[in-house]
Amino acid sequence: MMHNDIERVLLSEQELAARIREIAGEINRDYAGQSLMLISVLRGSFIFMADLVRCLTISCTVDFMAVSSYGKKSKSSGAVQITKDLSDDIAGKNILIVEDILDSGNTLSYLMKTLSARSPRSMRLCTLLDKPSRRTKPVEVHYRGFVVPDEFVVGYGLDYAERYRNLPYIGILKPQVYGGEGK
Ligand code: IMP
Ligand code: MG
Repeated sequence: MMHNDIERVLLSEQELAARIREIAGEINRDYAGQSLMLISVLRGSFIFMADLVRCLTISCTVDFMAVSSYGKKSKSSGAVQITKDLSDDIAGKNILIVEDILDSGNTLSYLMKTLSARSPRSMRLCTLLDKPSRRTKPVEVHYRGFVVPDEFVVGYGLDYAERYRNLPYIGILKPQVYGGEGK
C-alpha cells in the first residue's frame, strides 16, 4: 500500500489547491490583456499544470517538454538533457515554465538558458516547490508555491523511481524506501 511508504503528509490536497488558486490569481493579474504559453516540464509537473491552468482566466496555450531527471536515484547526476522538445515555437511569446520542484537548480538553469536563446518575448518560472537549502545554481523564481525542507518528497506528480506520482498530497518518503541513501 503506497500510503504506508509515507512518513508524513507535508502538504494536503486542500493546502495545495488553496495555494494554486493564489498563484493563478497573481498570474491572471500579471498577464491581464496578454497571452501566455505555459510550458510544463514533464513528468513531475503534469498534475500541477493541470490544476493551475484550470484556475487561469487569461488567454493561454500549453506545451510540454521533458528533460532527463534523477531516474531511479534520489540524487541529481548533474547532467541535463532534453528528451522531449516543445511542439511550438516560443519566439516572441510570453512563456511561463511550470516545474514541480526546484532543488539544486541544475535542471532549470540549463533549461532557462536553452529557452532564452530561442528569443521568447518574456520568460518566467513558476515552481510548486522550492528546496533552497540544496541550491548550487542560482535560478530566478517568479511564482513559488511552497518552500520545503531538505527531505525527499513524493506525490502530486512527484516521483521516486517513477512511483507515487498519483498520491493526491505531497508527502515525505520514508528513508528506508530509497535505502536511506542521501536525500
Ligand atoms: P534540480 O536539477 O536538482 O533542481 O532537480 C530538479 C528535478 O529533480 C525536479 O524536476 C524533480 O524531478 C527532481 N527532484 C528534486 N527533488 C525531488 C524530491 O524531493 N522529490 C522528487 N523529485 C525531486
Ligand atoms: Mg523526477
